[in-house]
Amino acid sequence: MFARIRRLRGNRAIREMVRETILHPWDFIFPVFVMEGTNIKEEIEAMPGNYHYTLDRLHEVMEEVVNSGVKGVLLFGLPGQKDEIASSAFDGNGIVQRAIKKIKEIAPELYVITDVCMCQYTSHGHCGILKGDEVDNDLTLPYIARIALSHAQAGADMVAPSDMMDGRISAIREALDENGFSNIPIMSYSMKYSSAFYGPFREAAHSAPSFGDRKTYQMDPANARQAMMEAEADIDEGADILMVKPALSYLDIIRMSKDRFDVPIAAYNVSGEFSMIKAAAKMGWINEREVVLEMLTSIKRAGADIIITYSALDACKWLKEEN
Ligand code: PBG
Ligand code: ZN
Repeated sequence: MFARIRRLRGNRAIREMVRETILHPWDFIFPVFVMEGTNIKEEIEAMPGNYHYTLDRLHEVMEEVVNSGVKGVLLFGLPGQKDEIASSAFDGNGIVQRAIKKIKEIAPELYVITDVCMCQYTSHGHCGILKGDEVDNDLTLPYIARIALSHAQAGADMVAPSDMMDGRISAIREALDENGFSNIPIMSYSMKYSSAFYGPFREAAHSAPSFGDRKTYQMDPANARQAMMEAEADIDEGADILMVKPALSYLDIIRMSKDRFDVPIAAYNVSGEFSMIKAAAKMGWINEREVVLEMLTSIKRAGADIIITYSALDACKWLKEEN
């Protein structure tokens, strides 16, 4: 006697009945890049099918998002001006702040999440305030809090800090609570690794550091237990959702954090993960649709409750076609 495990794979009907992991449009968050200017919808070269939008054309992508069934967007801004302290990041009239208001006019039901960081807005491209050549943790905290607060004031539904300073969740929570935003949740990029998979994004967001790298604040890819320390600290400080980033090389971290903590876990399927599939598909070496759906299923199976992905709109279309 041996187990005939193949019995439950005999045809599509039974396979679907015993399937453990099913993707839905509402699992996904779609990242959107907004820029200053007028009448621009410009494709990001290293991320085919993704664009920079000026505010007057933002409705084009928002309509696609609403029609896809995706419930949330993650906003990234490309400001007109950069300086040492990222002033344009907390300007009440900044690009992200205006984009939030615009989206709330176009599609009030869409859940608007904002990336809270400084690197697109600083002249040096680092995610914090510099003291000499070092990013200074404690000098940065009030700025991060101020950016998050300005997003909430503009109408963001949720803020998502990605700077990786210690203590940022406390600083943001306090600023939000003191100003009447105690109901705005924080999705923390808690377990964010210093990764080469961010390459295409940095080109897209014009946010590469002008010197050095981010290894003194983002995590070492070799470490798993340290990720649990990051997660625990963020929960203690009041984070509502924890994120693992990138996703594919870090499925173990998704699983560990899911088993260990009771808050929802988000995974960021980052730009490099997206672009390498696009490139291989373009060469005819892999089937994009099947590979993307397999990867997204794997990320969810590993424990992600939410998946932030540039493939969100395509995935929704493909899922519809399969049913
Ligand atoms: C900025 C930020 C980055 C990403 C999201 N927010 C880049 C970085 O840390 O250098 C990466 C997203 C992607 O690669 O898709 N702090
Ligand atoms: Zn940053």
